[in-house]
Amino acid sequence: MRNVTGLQCRECGESYPKRLIHACGLCFGPLDVAYDYAAIAKEVSKESIACGPPTLWRYRKLLPIERDECIIDIGVGFTPLLKADNLARELKLKNIHVKNDSVNPTFSFKDRPSSVAVSKAIEFGSPAVGAASTGNLSGAMAAHAAKARLPCFIFIPEKLEMSKVAQTLAYGAHVIEVTGTYDQANRLATEIALTSNIAFANINVRPYYVEGSKTLVFEVCEQLGWRAPDHIIVPVASGALLHAAWRGLKELEEVGLIDKWDTRITAAQAEGCSPVVQALLKGENEITPVEKPDTTCKSLAIGDPADGYYAIQAVRATKGTGQAPDDKQILDGIKLLAKTEGVFTEPAGGTAVAALKQLVEDGEVERDEEVVLYITGNGLKTQESITPALAKPFKIKPTLEDFKQLVAELQTPGVNWLEGV
Ligand SMILES: Cc1ncc(COP(=O)(O)O)c(C=O)c1O
Ligand SMILES: [Zn+2]
Repeated sequence: MRNVTGLQCRECGESYPKRLIHACGLCFGPLDVAYDYAAIAKEVSKESIACGPPTLWRYRKLLPIERDECIIDIGVGFTPLLKADNLARELKLKNIHVKNDSVNPTFSFKDRPSSVAVSKAIEFGSPAVGAASTGNLSGAMAAHAAKARLPCFIFIPEKLEMSKVAQTLAYGAHVIEVTGTYDQANRLATEIALTSNIAFANINVRPYYVEGSKTLVFEVCEQLGWRAPDHIIVPVASGALLHAAWRGLKELEEVGLIDKWDTRITAAQAEGCSPVVQALLKGENEITPVEKPDTTCKSLAIGDPADGYYAIQAVRATKGTGQAPDDKQILDGIKLLAKTEGVFTEPAGGTAVAALKQLVEDGEVERDEEVVLYITGNGLKTQESITPALAKPFKIKPTLEDFKQLVAELQTPGVNWLEGV
């Protein structure tokens, strides 16, 4: 495969060979995969991609795996892009799409970078894989490691949602709960990554891992008929997904799959942990880390985001903005999406919905603007967050009389639900 030429420092541009390294030896900047776009442009077309599998591996030529036999494919990607007309009406907009990435095999978008990271770890001959996780990467890495028959070490902060921990354990991973925050768990994982043979997806495999996340924007454009939308709202934790959306759009243009684009990319974070959005709103480039995240949106609770600086650059370059709704607005966002579109998301998705609602209120979205909401995780994994904000089920005796009495209480004037009963 000629498509990958090596690694390149995002800061100083220094080139490196394709190895299991992640930081520049000269300036400590992060390394990115470098591609031969001219060669790829000759090899890919809309038609060739349409003939590919209904997974992220349809974009194989823009992914950094060299040997097919190393690919771990559990059916990730090609998730629905739904026209969200009911939600649009509620928000007084005309054109919203929901990219429902909550229906991936482990129920979050993290299956995308994990599929690439584990495949790459196999290519490098790593004896084990791992990750530091706020909950979704854990399940995604554990599932791919299970399929690859590799041991998996997952470092999580305290008090993650039960379903996420149970899911990860079910796949057979070694789950290590570190007393403290995600950043503390991540620091420990980084120490281990630098002194062991374990391939940590979001640490020493990071240049390859982040490539999986750009397939989300590839799909959005393909599903829109190879066209970029006006505006994308992205939930942000480490900032990798947001930065990958920018990189992905630039790549699609570079290889001729979309025309020149003018997409705004907006960052959504929970108020209780919003280092990227706060920096954006203050016009700063550097992140002020949040030491003690305090939000029900645990999947986005990264106080010191690895790609935070680059997420800020991507938002600024595309003339996007940042929004940091509070926990109540996030839970309301979950309910609004569920009730209007039949999509049950976790707080990260609720954050994107709430961010869009605020943008509308602030007059920052045109009525006709084509907005794509990244819905990145599934509500069934975070039931403890939303349950207190929901109504309780009705409880009745198993008699028609009891049901009729209940209906009489619920009945709206002018409608008779019980006609003929
Ligand atoms: C559901 C969900 N959405 C979005 C994100 C943000 O991803 P990133 O860390 O690439 O910014 C995460 C991160 O864990 C997540 O779990
Ligand atoms: Zn450098």
